[in-house]
Amino acid sequence: MSGFETIIYEKKEGIGYVTLNRPQALNVYNLKMRDELYQILGAIKDDSEVKVAVFRGAGERAFCAGADLTEFLTAPSPTIARQARWERDVWGLFLSLPQPIIAALHGYVLGSGIEIALCCDLRIASEDVQFGLPETGLGIIPAAGATQTLPRTIGRAKTLEMLLAGTRLNAQEALHLGLVNQIVPREQLFPATEKIARKIASRSQPVVKYTKFAILHGLDLTLEQGLELESKLASLALKVRYAE
Ligand code: COA
Repeated sequence: MSGFETIIYEKKEGIGYVTLNRPQALNVYNLKMRDELYQILGAIKDDSEVKVAVFRGAGERAFCAGADLTEFLTAPSPTIARQARWERDVWGLFLSLPQPIIAALHGYVLGSGIEIALCCDLRIASEDVQFGLPETGLGIIPAAGATQTLPRTIGRAKTLEMLLAGTRLNAQEALHLGLVNQIVPREQLFPATEKIARKIASRSQPVVKYTKFAILHGLDLTLEQGLELESKLASLALKVRYAE
């Protein structure tokens, strides 16, 4: 797929690479990017050739520095207001992807940037990464899931501190809190991400998808319900394997 303004999409050996591509503005998230991400996420979801997806940011300075403030806090024009009414549930779509998603994070990962990263299943970061949620300082609350996805990942106290006091996290702090899986030197970010992506892509795809489903959905269930879900998915996976 091509012809996007704000993202680049490439597919190679079972891996779908999505690059946020507004490096001159630190890859900030605008309406155009929202629409293009919605389109690409839908395409990835329906593409059985894509076994794993990788999200990354173009340029040297940021994965994504949040929402585009030039359109975010201004009164919307009638056209934009109309567009906003058709608001697409990018975040719901993100979280519904059956394939594992890996975020390769460098530089600024702020606001919607961290929210995109939290919709991914694994997060690999370079040593220069900086996480933050500037929203409350701007007089708004996050609207792309951070109040829900972040405490589920790093716990309640640190989420409250980040959101209410604007505390930022560096790479070591993020690793310690379980926000990222791995820290690597900047030049190793894409090779390290690709290595994990290839490993996942080499496994049985139904097994990978069912395992992701069991873990993500199980977290919102009681242990008993979760074990029942696991058992159902395990037999389903066996059936699919025998049919292969
Ligand atoms: N919306 C729109 N443009 C943004 C932006 C944003 N959220 N963040 C950065 N940019 C643009 C800047 O306007 C600048 O553009 P210019 O070169 O045309 O002037 C360019 O990106 C580089 O940013 P700059 O501020 O010059 O870099 P810096 O190194 O001095 O500071 C940040 C980097 C990330 C600390 C700073 O840009 C910042 O605080 N951005 C806002 C973050 C934010 O509040 N995000 C919204 C969360 S809801």
